[in-house]
Amino acid sequence: MNLIMLGAPGAGKGTQAQILSDKYGIPTISTGAIIRSAIKNGTPTGVMAKTFIDKGELVPDEVVIGIIKERLSESDCENGFILDGFPRTIPQAEALDNLGIKIDKVLDIEVDDSLIINRLSGRRECPKCGATYHVVNNPSKSGDVCERCSSPLTTRADDNPETIKSRLNVYHSQTEPLIEYYKKKGNLAVAEGEGSLEATTDAIIKVLEG
Ligand code: AP5
Ligand code: MG
Repeated sequence: MNLIMLGAPGAGKGTQAQILSDKYGIPTISTGAIIRSAIKNGTPTGVMAKTFIDKGELVPDEVVIGIIKERLSESDCENGFILDGFPRTIPQAEALDNLGIKIDKVLDIEVDDSLIINRLSGRRECPKCGATYHVVNNPSKSGDVCERCSSPLTTRADDNPETIKSRLNVYHSQTEPLIEYYKKKGNLAVAEGEGSLEATTDAIIKVLEG
């Protein structure tokens, strides 16, 4: 199964992708996580991308398209994959179409902007394995360390109110048009994302498995 996760910042793409990845045994590919790792490692791509990510803006299309092409050619994607955070613009979606890979479902997780600040300001992430938590809604069973790999949890640099606002604006202007794009293609599936984490997973499984 080849899946795309669409949705605003904080909609739950990463959280639900992790659950689906465990359930279906296919990898999650998060462009955001790949970029954050490049920033941490100080690679030339990371240094360039940091200037965009810090402002809540999108990294240029050609950079993320290059990242995705390379990652999708790896052998663990042969039986399926979940794209979390890609595509995010029409040119990115067209570049993906041009790779000739069939996308089975594009899952749009819908959450109102009013819920986003709370979700993102309480988020904690594992810098090592990428697991995502929330201090209230989904705390790690191991406290301040990751329950999967025991690494100390961190807060994302772009999870501050000002950058969140800019990310939401960017989402509405540049990424939301993809909903119409995939609706026209006929593979869009919409899941309500405002309920609990478990209720959202149930809604997703329902639209994926019928
Ligand atoms: P990226 O890392 O993709 O961030 P984002 O799109 O802003 O989305 P988030 O990761 O913030 O939210 P999410 O939907 O994954 O929510 P989560 O599951 O964590 O991108 C970051 C940046 O990288 C971009 O701004 C851009 O600069 C760059 N970039 C990345 N991809 C790019 C691309 N393709 N092109 C160009 N630039 C790109 O959940 C959020 C919180 O809420 C968590 O704490 C979670 O525990 C909690 N939560 C989740 N679900 C629920 C629920 N149902 N109820 C209560 N709490 C919940
Ligand atoms: Mg995410």
